[in-house]
Amino acid sequence: MKSVTDTFKLANGVEMPCVGYGTWETPDDVSKDLVKCALQTGYRHIDTAAAYGNEVGVGEGIKASGVKREDIFLTTKHWVSERGYEKTVAAIDSSLKNLGTDYLDLYLIHWPCVEKVTPDWAEVNADTWRGFEKAYADGKIRALGVSNFQEKHLAALAKYAKVPAVVNQIEFHPGYNQLDTVKYCQDNGILVQAWSPLGHGTVLGSEVMAKYAEKYGVTPAKICIRYALQHGIVPLPKSTNPARIADNMDVFGFEISAEDMAAIDALPEMGFTGWMPEDAPAESYYD
Ligand code: A2P
Repeated sequence: MKSVTDTFKLANGVEMPCVGYGTWETPDDVSKDLVKCALQTGYRHIDTAAAYGNEVGVGEGIKASGVKREDIFLTTKHWVSERGYEKTVAAIDSSLKNLGTDYLDLYLIHWPCVEKVTPDWAEVNADTWRGFEKAYADGKIRALGVSNFQEKHLAALAKYAKVPAVVNQIEFHPGYNQLDTVKYCQDNGILVQAWSPLGHGTVLGSEVMAKYAEKYGVTPAKICIRYALQHGIVPLPKSTNPARIADNMDVFGFEISAEDMAAIDALPEMGFTGWMPEDAPAESYYD
């Protein structure tokens, strides 16, 4: 990879730019300017979600950027309140309308339905997935995926999916890397994306990240972004600051050694949000 516009190829042949711009917790009213800024700076991959409440601003930012829609890889996510076939079909149309586009490049189940919600969790996910497959067949979505799934949820999905999931977006950063889930995905043709690749900013001030930043002559944020990329993972760094938006793209002039990658892999836990599919942060995640 030599720039953020270089791509990974998904198992269904769709190409995804190797670094995306994340918009989690970006308020709708500022997301327009930030997405416009990210696109004009050079990003071609934007990640949002219905639950972020900023799809309208993201769509306006895309239009305001002057970058052609077909040159942008756009992802949004299905929220837990919309589980089941009918609601899913409606949720997809609602996201398309909010974003002002007639297709998505990638659509993800934001959180799996789990045992804690219902013993029929796998069937519920299957029913939601049928809605995804319908939109895929209708040409509204170019690639289908999931987020926050672990092996158990992915294996269940693989049993009933006619169109397989080709992406799993999970929390991944130094200090919390879920390498078992990453391995399962990579062994099964599922590309991993990293949400909070900077550990939500919390790992950037650590002594260990400062040590690697100094060694490679870059910022701690760049170490985190390279760490994901060198694992074959697509990082989705978020920043509300134009200088940092630009800086986070400039990660192709150095390489973390194999030895340092292994050392970062083995770091003690830091920056973990505590959010797990079977034990999510709030009741609202279970619907
Ligand atoms: P800001 O928006 O002020 O730039 P993550 O993508 O892991 O969720 O992390 C996002 C957080 O990291 C935000 O708080 C963001 O703050 C901060 N951040 C993003 N890029 C950088 C950077 N290059 N240096 C320092 N902090 C950064």
